Amino acid sequence: MRERRTVDSSSSAADPSEGMGTLRLKREVGLISAVSLIAGTMIGSGIFMSPEWVLYHMGSPAGSLIIWAACGLLVMFGALSYAELGTIIKESGGDYIYILRNFGSLPAFLFAYTSIIVVRPASMAGVSLSFAKYAVAPFYQGCSTPEVVVKCTAASCILLLTIINCLNVRLATAIMNIFTAAKLLVLLVIVIGGVVLLINGHTQSFQDAFQNTTTGIGPVGVAFYQGLWSYDGWNNLNFVTEELKKPEVNLPRAMMIAIPLVTCLYLLVNVTMRVLTLSLWPSVALSSFGSANGTFFSGGRVCYIASREGHMPDILSMAHVRCLTPSPALIFTSAMALIMIIPGNFSSIVNFFSFTAWLFYGTTIAGLLIYMVLYRDVLLSQVPIIIPIIVLIASVYLVLAPVIDQPQIEFFYVILFILSGIIVYFPLVHYKRHPQFLQRITLHLQLLLEVAPTKEVAE
Ligand code: ARG
Repeated sequence: MRERRTVDSSSSAADPSEGMGTLRLKREVGLISAVSLIAGTMIGSGIFMSPEWVLYHMGSPAGSLIIWAACGLLVMFGALSYAELGTIIKESGGDYIYILRNFGSLPAFLFAYTSIIVVRPASMAGVSLSFAKYAVAPFYQGCSTPEVVVKCTAASCILLLTIINCLNVRLATAIMNIFTAAKLLVLLVIVIGGVVLLINGHTQSFQDAFQNTTTGIGPVGVAFYQGLWSYDGWNNLNFVTEELKKPEVNLPRAMMIAIPLVTCLYLLVNVTMRVLTLSLWPSVALSSFGSANGTFFSGGRVCYIASREGHMPDILSMAHVRCLTPSPALIFTSAMALIMIIPGNFSSIVNFFSFTAWLFYGTTIAGLLIYMVLYRDVLLSQVPIIIPIIVLIASVYLVLAPVIDQPQIEFFYVILFILSGIIVYFPLVHYKRHPQFLQRITLHLQLLLEVAPTKEVAE
């Protein structure tokens, strides 16, 4: 094997295990990059595409605005709870590591298995498909875009992001910052344009704003799914806690800046888009590309951390010896996303993504609640217990409402898939029955990819 080096920005010479051949990722994410990782992933395709779906399910403009505001509030409560979790458990890995530490190995494995094979690749595929759709649209004006062109463009977007993210963490965060700034600017221009029109009296689309509002549990649940897709990515920073500079300060601070900012923008954009008619192709493409980058950046980390904890093959927890990026995990995530693109269709991806995501957010929050109750005497909690309780109730509603109202066979498949993880877990993880050839493959892959084992980033 190639020479292994200990390369770590915060390496402590006092640690005798240093130099024994382990790499560490560096703490390269500062406050600005942290805010843009959250806001830049949240603002993707959703804000441009979901408003009409939320309106369709809610039946009225006022009803849909209420959904957008409620989504923002729910996500804010979710973020407060995750910030609390992030200060209790200071490791990278987001929901995965919280479920692991609070509920143990099997539930965490089921999360990792579902997340790595389905949820993350699906969100990657969803965002890159919308990037592709809008990026190629100008070349097909007046006719429909061939599906194969959209899918090939989406695949190229994923491959490009894989290369960028494997090369350099700083390059990936720089792209994140630039794209986030650009899309904030686009949204601001839309808002200002709309406000000018509203001031000039273009208010007819808000007359009888509550008429026809639906109150059915199922449609409201589906409207939430569409709205929450636009907000998703709010917990992305928790996946890279170990790469964050001063995480105890920057994690909560970045969330408290990014989420209210995005919520306000989304509400304003929803109001102004009703009076503005714009063709937004380049904006949606640009916005989705940035969001795909953020999704990819954090998505690769789930795979990386789960492997470090022994829940995925060892090779996925290694990092490139010079670039110090978790390239095997990134390449694997990208391969899964490429597979997802083949049958993928945007709206079904959104509904099943939200269902599965909220199932796991609920589980993570339940873990926090148990922790807060068990350690209430010693825990210096920043968050009142009512907040995670509200998020937990909301996630139970979000998981159950659409299933009860319109039981679709696909929800059942999702559950079946999660449970199928149990069959994989016992032989491969619990009893560690690894086929002999796996070790040889790992060695070959290590040489090919120039990667070596890693350790957690030191405090
Ligand atoms: N909120 C993004 C959008 O509207 C989707 C983000 C998906 N990625 C994620 N990590 N959850 O397109």
